[in-house]
Amino acid sequence: MTGFRSNFVIIGSGVAGLKTALEAAELGDVQLITKKEDFESNTNYAQGGIATVLDPNDTFDSHILDTHEAGAGLCHRDSVDLIVTHGPDAIKELIEIGVEFTREQDGRLELGREGGHSARRIVHAQDLTGREVEKALLQNVRDHPRIQVHEFYFAIDLILDENRRCWGVWAWDAHDEKVHQFLAGATILATGGCGLVYRHSTNPSIATGDGVSMAFRAGAKIANMEFIQFHPTALYNPEDKRPYLISEAVRGERAILRAGDGTAFMKNYHKLKDLAPRDIVARAIDNEMKTRGESCCYLDVTHIDQQFFHKRFPFISHICEDHGLNLAKDWIPVVPAAHYMCGGVVTDLKGATSIAGLYSIGETACTGVHGANRLASNSILEALVFSKQSVGESWNKGFPQTDPPAALEKEWVKKPLEELEGVRIVNLRQTLRGLMWDYVGIVRSNSRLEQAKKRLDILKEEIDSIYESGHINTQLLELRNLAQTAELILLCTLQRKESRGLHYNIDYPDLSETPEDSVIRLLPDNDVQVESVPVST
Ligand code: FAD
Ligand code: SIN
Repeated sequence: MTGFRSNFVIIGSGVAGLKTALEAAELGDVQLITKKEDFESNTNYAQGGIATVLDPNDTFDSHILDTHEAGAGLCHRDSVDLIVTHGPDAIKELIEIGVEFTREQDGRLELGREGGHSARRIVHAQDLTGREVEKALLQNVRDHPRIQVHEFYFAIDLILDENRRCWGVWAWDAHDEKVHQFLAGATILATGGCGLVYRHSTNPSIATGDGVSMAFRAGAKIANMEFIQFHPTALYNPEDKRPYLISEAVRGERAILRAGDGTAFMKNYHKLKDLAPRDIVARAIDNEMKTRGESCCYLDVTHIDQQFFHKRFPFISHICEDHGLNLAKDWIPVVPAAHYMCGGVVTDLKGATSIAGLYSIGETACTGVHGANRLASNSILEALVFSKQSVGESWNKGFPQTDPPAALEKEWVKKPLEELEGVRIVNLRQTLRGLMWDYVGIVRSNSRLEQAKKRLDILKEEIDSIYESGHINTQLLELRNLAQTAELILLCTLQRKESRGLHYNIDYPDLSETPEDSVIRLLPDNDVQVESVPVST
């Protein structure tokens, strides 16, 4: 077995992994592993931008208030304060490493508007913000002499010693089809989200909940997995399997949601109409589709100056034209789709998890910023600020040791891949994603959740038994994590006896008086503990 030894091992090459790598490389050697090409990540597809207070008429207090309002009583005050007040510096640092944001004619950064924000505060690079940020971070990481990037390495499980301290990760090299050991003093999970747990998602194929599953199996505290954010407007294209988002910034520029008969229905749901918080818009669309028996709703941009629209949203214009739409005449067909994991691995303000030696940053982490519903464009901001806080503020005070106390060995039994029936993996994956969409989706009920639990137990047992029989390939590793993440979502959902933020259960339509996080962990005897923990907000 080949081994790598370094001060830091970072898993994931989105904004969280790359920014953390650059910070960590100031202190020591970094091994960064990523399961596909280095650019492939949710980050790379981000459209709207990064929320921060730059307009002289805007205030930190207003951004903080909007974040809490979206988070429906579950945001942690210290984490929200942290990301909002460090936002302008985070943007400045991105510009310094080469990110080119869209500017006004006079050179000021152009600020967009999105749902739930009471001011224009979204810094963006046209509608390809993620690609621009990813490109600049990657260039800096590739050029850094202390960072070694391993593409097509799939992190399987964390390496723990007998005291349950984390010392790195086992990773599957998809090219040489072997498991390698990465030992490090600090292990950072930056594996992103889990959109692929659901049949319809805006996320690329990497988003299979790997980090949260690994952390759970290692015994880390996980929280608030019931809060899956469904983006209201993914392009409805049943023929085409690729997910395309139609950014909320489009509604920020006055696009109107319509039902098939032309009704602009959002006025019936919220005073902010089309710019209401995302959970409300997604549920409104879901309701209109269900009551009208229609398979999508529409975004109308025909009244917006077309020249302006094409300049502001070149990518979205291109995608729509590619799907045969003339935006001067046609409405864009849209449906909600799973978009963002608000819960995740519980961390403190330095990114430290409940396991010594293990950190988590970005979408994988639950820092308390997003509460029950993330405010648009707060996610890249959170990843940037927490990367900096972890490394800059904490690790340089206690440089991580690289040597585990004892040699850690593990036998990876491996049967020939030909024995693995690929058709079972494909079928189980489709069944799981359909089950979660139909039974644990935008609107939930006790009876559907109970059915989901019975079915998921059966699916998970079959998946675990295939995995335990000793085969390894990327599809199976992902399926194992999809099932684990689905279980975490379902158990947290069952724990919550109220409707709050993104979690809406018709059998508990009201908000309970005490805001509580749902915290779940695997105990050493393999029992699963789920608790409701009051939040001091
Ligand atoms: P990611 O960027 O998803 O990176 C995760 C990395 O981990 C990937 O490199 C992946 O390959 C790797 N990885 C995963 N599992 C493993 C494993 N087992 N082994 C090795 N590597 C692994 N947020 C905003 O703030 N503003 C926006 O405008 C915005 N728009 C969005 C648009 C779209 C279409 C999507 C999908 C999301 C959008 N978001 C937006 C959300 C935001 O992009 C993400 O939350 C954020 O980029 C996550 O960054 P991350 O580094 O945590 O994870
Ligand atoms: C969007 O552009 O609508 C996505 C913004 C986000 O997810 O924060």
